[in-house]
Amino acid sequence: MTSVARAGAPGRRLGVLISGRGSNLQSIIDAVAEGRLDAEIAVVMSNRPAAFGLERARAAGIPTAVLEHRAWPSRDAYDEALAQALQAQRVDYVCLAGFMRLIGPALLNAFPDRILNIHPSLLPAFPGVDAQAQAVAHGVRVSGATVHLVDAGLDSGPIVAQRAVPVSPTDTADTLSARILDAEHRLYPEALATILAGGWRIEGRRLILPPTAARPDVV
Ligand code: GRF
Repeated sequence: MTSVARAGAPGRRLGVLISGRGSNLQSIIDAVAEGRLDAEIAVVMSNRPAAFGLERARAAGIPTAVLEHRAWPSRDAYDEALAQALQAQRVDYVCLAGFMRLIGPALLNAFPDRILNIHPSLLPAFPGVDAQAQAVAHGVRVSGATVHLVDAGLDSGPIVAQRAVPVSPTDTADTLSARILDAEHRLYPEALATILAGGWRIEGRRLILPPTAARPDVV
């Protein structure tokens, strides 16, 4: 699909950062291929050479790059290298898709309000690792998935879209993870489309969508 940059607005070239299996990456690849998401995946980058998501990208003909964080002396230096590599590919928006690294100022400042993440809970509940196990242990009746803009905090940036997923009394972390993952795969491409459609603004910690925007938050 051809990417057309609109005057005065960022274009639609995505850089996707992964660390592992890459099923959310696959959902974005599929959405682009099926015409549900008007965007171009410019590059997929991983901090782990063995990430299965790299194979998914190669199978789809998407350029890949591996930047192993251990090869850089500090987090700042690593983030600077990521920012430069993404800018070299003329990336407009960065999508974190199971990228197991905190994002520091060097990368945040290179893509202000243009880094998105998906998290397997209804934030601000259960940030950080093992969100699904946290939800089961807490005994919540409803959990879900959140797509948010990334800021300097942990899973704390403005919320773009959420989708609720029921928690059953017999759920384990694994069964709940599978159900939430299914919701994630539908939510991430839809939330990305909402962001790429533009017209939104940030007030305080709220992301305000235009009244006409598609709302992916179907509960
Ligand atoms: C997903 O559950 C996502 O919400 C979280 O990490 C997991 C990545 O899975 N941030 P995958 O690599 O996209 O399959």
